[in-house]
Amino acid sequence: MNKVTTDILLTNNIHIYATAEAASIKVARVIADEIIKKRSLGQQLVLGLATGNTPKMVYQQLVRMHRDEGLSFKNVISFNLDEYYPLKETHPLSYHSFMNQHLFDHIDIAQSNIHLPHGEWDVARLGDYCKAYDQKIKQHGGIDLQLLGIGRNGHIGFNEPGSAFDSATRLIDLHEQTRTDAAIDFEGIENVPLQAITMGIATITNAKKILLLAIGTRKAEIIKKAFQNEISPEVPATFLRTLPQVSYILDQEAAALVGPLER
Ligand code: F6R
Repeated sequence: MNKVTTDILLTNNIHIYATAEAASIKVARVIADEIIKKRSLGQQLVLGLATGNTPKMVYQQLVRMHRDEGLSFKNVISFNLDEYYPLKETHPLSYHSFMNQHLFDHIDIAQSNIHLPHGEWDVARLGDYCKAYDQKIKQHGGIDLQLLGIGRNGHIGFNEPGSAFDSATRLIDLHEQTRTDAAIDFEGIENVPLQAITMGIATITNAKKILLLAIGTRKAEIIKKAFQNEISPEVPATFLRTLPQVSYILDQEAAALVGPLER
């Protein structure tokens, strides 16, 4: 365990691992190394974080590194991608709760360095709050490292199909598939919020480094589309192909339908 096994380097930026655990360990290692590098320079790391099933093992590893290896998060400033809207911060399925449960409650990050969009933002001032969120990221010098999952419809953050390349942080209607995928957790699609606040595609793509993690068979179809479909808002993840700073970390299951790639 804990040994990165197969890293088949298919192109400069697509890495396929034998297991989801190996892929997650790799992602956690990259994040830890960036934190350590910044600390050695006396700097803070601005880290973009995701929620959902995909990053759970990454967070487990980071918590383990904090506990067993003394990895400190004191120089980390975090910005999460998204939050359901409307939803109380204290709701057990809010992304606030998710982050506390899987990461923040177990590490030494300063509470004041944690940022997430709020499911309780006043609807009348939502536009201002979203602008302020992007502004805050800029004030911190932009996101150094952004962790992404991918939705089965190709969304990144909650930038659903149709999202523009230059979109900023905003309120968005959740796609039917996104709500269907969340229905199990919410015990019925009728309980899944209709909307969410998400960092925009522009907010995400401005990050200096982006890691997209995809694990499991259920992501195989969309990973194929993300790599092979024409670049368009219909599959927002295709936008990432235009960027040199993106790395894809996949397990073999998620990569199963990806055809031969150029080395
Ligand atoms: C979550 C997020 C989403 C998820 C995507 C995949 O913060 O931004 O884009 O990454 O919906 O979700 P999982 O990992 O649950 O399959």
